[in-house]
Amino acid sequence: MSKYCIANWKMYMSKKNIDSYFENFLSKDLNNNCNIVICPSSIHLDYVNKLSESNKSISLGSQNVSEYENGAYTGENSLQMIKESNCDFAIIGHSERRQIFHESDIDVNNKLKVLNNSNVTPIICIGETLEERESGITREVLKNQFKRIFNDINFNLSKEFIIAYEPIWAIGTGKSADTETIYSIHKFLKNIINEINLNNCNICLLYGGSVNEENASEILAVDEVDGFLIGSASIDADVFYNIYNKF
Ligand code: PGA
Repeated sequence: MSKYCIANWKMYMSKKNIDSYFENFLSKDLNNNCNIVICPSSIHLDYVNKLSESNKSISLGSQNVSEYENGAYTGENSLQMIKESNCDFAIIGHSERRQIFHESDIDVNNKLKVLNNSNVTPIICIGETLEERESGITREVLKNQFKRIFNDINFNLSKEFIIAYEPIWAIGTGKSADTETIYSIHKFLKNIINEINLNNCNICLLYGGSVNEENASEILAVDEVDGFLIGSASIDADVFYNIYNKF
């Protein structure tokens, strides 16, 4: 199974930050067996592509993709556009897109359909809110998200899918899920994958939510964790590298 260390830079970085990030990051040894994917904001994709293209260990991902092919969709970026910027990956269904910009599972399903017919690998985010967790309905919520997102997808079996389990209460809070929770939820997700007959697909299961230098090793040691989707700890090149080095 492939391993992934994915940086979601959200809306944090300026070009100046990006310059110093790469000056530092590219001086490091990036040759372990884990894939590095950097997801800058879309306006910086070409810029990051130019800075990183000399290093084949680094791939580029978009933080989102439009469900539409082209047309009058102000502020959106199409599959074709992100491919022109050399993206091999695209995050879809991030909880910030869902909660702040009101994207639904149906929108995520439409985006997955767009990516499924392309050579861009989807990074599909799912996760429960604190309220849902405290009401004891985490598994039900995840199963429903899963079923709606994968509804009516004509699976391309040669394609890799990345699913990031990101409990919303753990994102940006400094409080990651504990390893027992991660283990049991990832096991549960593997069962759903089998149930809806996705088991012939190449699926990587990542964890995301307050991953940092201190907790990365113990989370990575959990069975069924194939890597990380990292927000705030990914915007410092040294910190991101130290996490990558735990693989
Ligand atoms: P965080 O964000 O690492 O800052 O918690 C993770 C994410 O939003 O993907």
